Amino acid sequence: MCGIIGYVGRKKAAPLLLDGLKRLEYRGYDSAGIATVADGIQIKKDQGKIDEIDSKLDLADMKGTVGIGHARWATHGEPSQRNAHPHMDADRRIAVVHNGIIENYEELREFLKSEGYKFKSETDTEVIPHLINYFLERGNGLEKSVRLTARRLKGSYAIAIAFADDSNKLVVVREQSPLIIGIQNGGSFVASDIPAVLPHTNRVLILEDGEMGIVTLDDVQIKRVNDGKDIQKEPMEIDWTLEMAEKRGYPHFMLKEINEQATAIQNTLRVSEEELNRLAKALGESDRVYVVACGTSYHAALVGKYALAKLADFSAEVVISSEFQESCIPRKNDLVFAITQSGETADTLKAVRVAKEKGSRAACLTNVVGSSITRISDLVCFTHAGPEIGVAATKTFSSQVTYLLLLAHYMAKDRGYITSKGYREKVSQLKKIPASEKDFLERITPQIEKLAKKYRNLSECYFIGRGIGFPIALEGSLKLKEIAYVNSVAYPAGELKHGPLALVEEGTLLLALVTPGSARERMIGNIEEVKARGAEVVALAPEGLNEVGKHVEEIVSIPSSREIFSPLIYVLPLQLLAYCMGIERGYDPDKPRHLAKSVTVE
Ligand code: G6P
Repeated sequence: MCGIIGYVGRKKAAPLLLDGLKRLEYRGYDSAGIATVADGIQIKKDQGKIDEIDSKLDLADMKGTVGIGHARWATHGEPSQRNAHPHMDADRRIAVVHNGIIENYEELREFLKSEGYKFKSETDTEVIPHLINYFLERGNGLEKSVRLTARRLKGSYAIAIAFADDSNKLVVVREQSPLIIGIQNGGSFVASDIPAVLPHTNRVLILEDGEMGIVTLDDVQIKRVNDGKDIQKEPMEIDWTLEMAEKRGYPHFMLKEINEQATAIQNTLRVSEEELNRLAKALGESDRVYVVACGTSYHAALVGKYALAKLADFSAEVVISSEFQESCIPRKNDLVFAITQSGETADTLKAVRVAKEKGSRAACLTNVVGSSITRISDLVCFTHAGPEIGVAATKTFSSQVTYLLLLAHYMAKDRGYITSKGYREKVSQLKKIPASEKDFLERITPQIEKLAKKYRNLSECYFIGRGIGFPIALEGSLKLKEIAYVNSVAYPAGELKHGPLALVEEGTLLLALVTPGSARERMIGNIEEVKARGAEVVALAPEGLNEVGKHVEEIVSIPSSREIFSPLIYVLPLQLLAYCMGIERGYDPDKPRHLAKSVTVE
């Protein structure tokens, strides 16, 4: 969701900014633009895909060694040339790009209009350059004018500003929206996230809320917005490589990341026992545990809930982050445990803040070092899945599930439900899963491709699962919506008879997840129920379960595993199905319409 890139250095800025924008495309956007500083400010911007805008406007052909770029995901004002960033003041002295939402923009707009300022766009962002201009006009210097402006803004923002009067400087400000500075000799980058600067550097300074950065050719200074006081900060070394964030021969990031799941799981499995112990203790010592998450992370959280209950006799309440403050009453001895791959999802950050205000402790499981969630959590855990670029989460889901399965086993040992030896055995079984995943993916790819062809004109379908298979049904259904735009709904199979069965008629497609374990027989019963009403059923079932084959159109056989590990394997054909259906139907799986990788607005 909205991406920022900026450069100050010795090289021509525009081609670097264009490259950075392309690396930010995965966040989701509808328009883009660049401003550079050379004899004043030049701006090129438009609605549409970056490649289309580039071929129309030749974005790389702009003079100057300092500039800012933006990929916009519309919030205030429709996607259009006029509303695309960068935005300028009327004197063309200040160019601004902005991620986030200025909540008090209407009030600021009215104030500025009363001072004679004229607005060209419908965006909340445009108040920023005008306000900076207002303070400059009153004799304040550039940096002070930015600070005074930031102090008037309410909401969430990451802002990068270029100035016609100082062609060697960018100023950036952060409040509840990610912003980093990539440090390099002879020039630095600013960006909303790490992959945009990886081709140039992996030394990054992560700005925190209420901080501003002043970036020049040879220097980066960090100051407090409130009083302008200097802040000393050391850059972090990020261990992601450029290669990790590129397609490496795959046609899409989504397919690459589906295939990287085995490696992601292996990396997650390297978590130290100390970290697991700290988290297990925090969970165990709390009166109540709320697990908050959105989208795919929510489904991983549900797998965690089942695993904690089944293995460790431990109950956690899993809540969709945006519903947390409406439905939960966090208290002093409670723990809110946020699961978020990006660490930047606004709804999840909000849920944690709400819980902390009530005195609860906060823990998080995230994939991004230095992300916002790590700053507000008392206990921070990482999945180490490597950068995920595809908008639809795949490998980070497997990593989150792996981490939660490890945690559940660790707690089972701690609470005396398994012995230390038993724990070690289970962990070594878990460690064997990545190898079987690779073979499995290869084996099922032709079958899934055929299925995607067969059902390419599908308009709706249902996913059913039981027990730990239910969160995977939810995830399979979400993937199909996001990537293939098929209207799909997931139900616990036991709920069919309480309503959804009424929708089943001749030819209705159901994807049935027959996971191993106690619920298996009842799932077969559910399949019979829908078949009797004319449904077509594609079943995912353990290898050798021949009786399922008797009832269904197609069976995708899944290598045998413990029930508790089955989510890691069952999710693969479903991710692949969504990917192949998306391709069959002519969509770009890396850029699903209206969706963003990291949703930084509530
Ligand atoms: C967006 C993405 C999803 C992701 C969800 C939660 O909706 O498109 O793929 O699952 O956000 O993201 P998080 O970073 O909090 O895990």
